[in-house]
Amino acid sequence: MTQSTWHEEKPVHAAIIMDGNGRWATARGMPRIAGHREGVEAARRVIEVAPDLGIRALTLYAFSADNWKRPAPEVSGLMALVEYFVRREVERCERQGVEVLAIGRRDRLPRSVRAAIEEAESRTRRGTRLTLRVALDYSSRDALVEAAALAGPDCASREAFAYALASVQGTPGRRLPDVDLLIRTAGEQRLSDFLLWESAYAELHFTPTLWPDFGEQDLRAAMRVYRQRNRTFGGLDPLPALPAAYNGSQRRLA
Ligand code: IPE
Ligand code: IPE
Ligand code: MG
Repeated sequence: MTQSTWHEEKPVHAAIIMDGNGRWATARGMPRIAGHREGVEAARRVIEVAPDLGIRALTLYAFSADNWKRPAPEVSGLMALVEYFVRREVERCERQGVEVLAIGRRDRLPRSVRAAIEEAESRTRRGTRLTLRVALDYSSRDALVEAAALAGPDCASREAFAYALASVQGTPGRRLPDVDLLIRTAGEQRLSDFLLWESAYAELHFTPTLWPDFGEQDLRAAMRVYRQRNRTFGGLDPLPALPAAYNGSQRRLA
């Protein structure tokens, strides 16, 4: 039996930069939107299995504020898919105790997407098994600037700032949990303006797998690697447990 690390049982906030949909489609001679469609299925697989792996919060990067730069048909295709996904999954989420929340700006989203999100949030708000946060029109730097303005010059603690950040990210009154494990697919190794504050001590996991190919086994593998990491948050390893027959004088002599 392998020795367990101290954070083995702690509930995990995992965040995923779901990248590589376009490359997945292009490699098959398909339009990019076909990759996004497959990406939706991968997201579903991950949501389904996450709670069984000890993940209590999951933030999925679905659309960045910079993604508006893409061609209009891709953007509208993505928005339609987000709406389809949220509407299709809401019932299952409700049944399985998954609380759905969106973070990011809402004012630039198509009205029907906004309505789908609001409905999902209200129908699933009692879920306790998993908090699923979908980052939509999301920019971490924009959120930080807005939070700084809201918190004001007298903001004196990280805690207070985290509440301001929660407010501007659509979850007022609920501090956002720090990210424990940040996964990015498709071989890229950057943050692309995702959860910069919350990922201060996140463990990073990069995989070449393209997002539409990502499944249960990939998430299990990422969690396995994560569980083996030594997280000290600037401190030192916790002392190993003392043997039952510990004698203080022996320790002093050692
Ligand atoms: C990620 O896949 C999905 C979104 C950004 C919405 P991409 O569309 O970025 O796929 P690649 O990186 O072009 O392969
Ligand atoms: C990040 O992926 C955004 C999402 C996955 C939604 P991008 O593909 O847009 O990021 P860059 O352009 O490679 O940094
Ligand atoms: Mg990409």
